[in-house]
Amino acid sequence: MSVDSVFRTRSLGVAAEGLPDQYADGKAAKVWELYIGDTQSRTLEYKSWLVSLLRQQGVRRVLDVACGTGVDSIMLVEEGFSVTSVDASDKMLKYALKSRWERRKEKAFDEWVIEEANWLNLPEDIQKPGHGFDAVICLGNSFAHLPDFKGDQSDQKLALHNIASMVKPGGILIIDHRNYDYILETGRAPQGKNIYYKSDLTQDISTSVLWVNNKPHMITLDYTIQVPQAKAQDLPDVSKFRLSYYPHRLDNFKSLLSEAFGGKVEHSVYGDFKEYSPGQAQAPCYFIHVCKKSA
Ligand SMILES: C[S@@+](CC[C@H](N)C(=O)[O-])C[C@H]1O[C@@H](n2cnc3c(N)ncnc32)[C@H](O)[C@@H]1O
Repeated sequence: MSVDSVFRTRSLGVAAEGLPDQYADGKAAKVWELYIGDTQSRTLEYKSWLVSLLRQQGVRRVLDVACGTGVDSIMLVEEGFSVTSVDASDKMLKYALKSRWERRKEKAFDEWVIEEANWLNLPEDIQKPGHGFDAVICLGNSFAHLPDFKGDQSDQKLALHNIASMVKPGGILIIDHRNYDYILETGRAPQGKNIYYKSDLTQDISTSVLWVNNKPHMITLDYTIQVPQAKAQDLPDVSKFRLSYYPHRLDNFKSLLSEAFGGKVEHSVYGDFKEYSPGQAQAPCYFIHVCKKSA
C-alpha cells in the first residue's frame, strides 16, 4: 500500500503518478524565492564556506543536481565556476532558465548549462564530462524529497549511486539534509536559524510525522507564506503549499553515502557549516556531508 493511499503528501492537484514532482502545480515554485528570502543574505551565510571549500579542492566544474530556481547555481556562476544545473521539476527550472536569459549578455551566464534530469536516471539524462565533475552539490534539503517508494531504500540507493557516479575520482560531493534525528525525537525543528531559508514572510511551518509499521516514513511540512503585493503577481495574499520529505537519520545516511561510493570515500559531516561533534549542546538545523571520492 502506498503512503499516498492513506495520506496526502503534496499540495492538492499535484499528480500522484510516477515520480512525484511536488512542485508540479507551480505553487511552491512561484513563492520559492519569497520563502528563501533575500538571496544575498541567504547566500552570504554559506557562500564563503562553500566557495572556499570548492577552491581549496581545486574545483572548476560543478554539477548542481537539485538546482530548483537556481539560487545556489547562480551564486557559483557569479563566482566563476563552470556550472551545469539540473532538476526534475520544469516548474522550478523555469525560474533558473529565466535568470539565464535575463543575464545572457554576461559570458558566464551565456555558458551556464541547464537541463531537466532526474536522479533516478541521471546517467541517461546528462552528459558526464570525461571522468566526471570536480564537484557535485545537492543542497537545500533536496535529497530528502525522494520518497522510499519500495520501503527498502532501493530508490534512494540508486539515486545516490547515480549522483556519486557524476563525481570524478578525487572530486567531492556536498549533500545535505535537515536534522531529522532531532525532529523525530522532539516533533519539531531545532531552535535557531535556518541556514538556508530566512524569509520574514514565512508565517507558519507545521510539521507532521507519518509512521508506517513503527518506522518514521515521511515528514510533511505545511508552509504558509505572506505574499507582499500579491495581486500584482496574481497570487493570493497568503500562499500555502505542502512538501513531504523522507526523514534521513544521520548514521543511516552516512552508510548510504559510503555504499554509493563503494566504500571508496573520505567522509566528513558538518552541522550548519561548522565542525560537528555528536551530542554537542546546540543541535544543528542541517547536516552537510562532504564526500571525497578516492582518486
Ligand atoms: C528544496 S528544492 C531546493 C532547490 C535549491 N537547491 C534551493 O536550495 O533552493 C528541492 C529541489 O529538488 C528537486 N528534486 C526533487 N526530487 C528530484 C529528483 N528525483 N531528481 C531531480 N531533482 C529533484 C525538486 O524539483 C526541487 O527543485
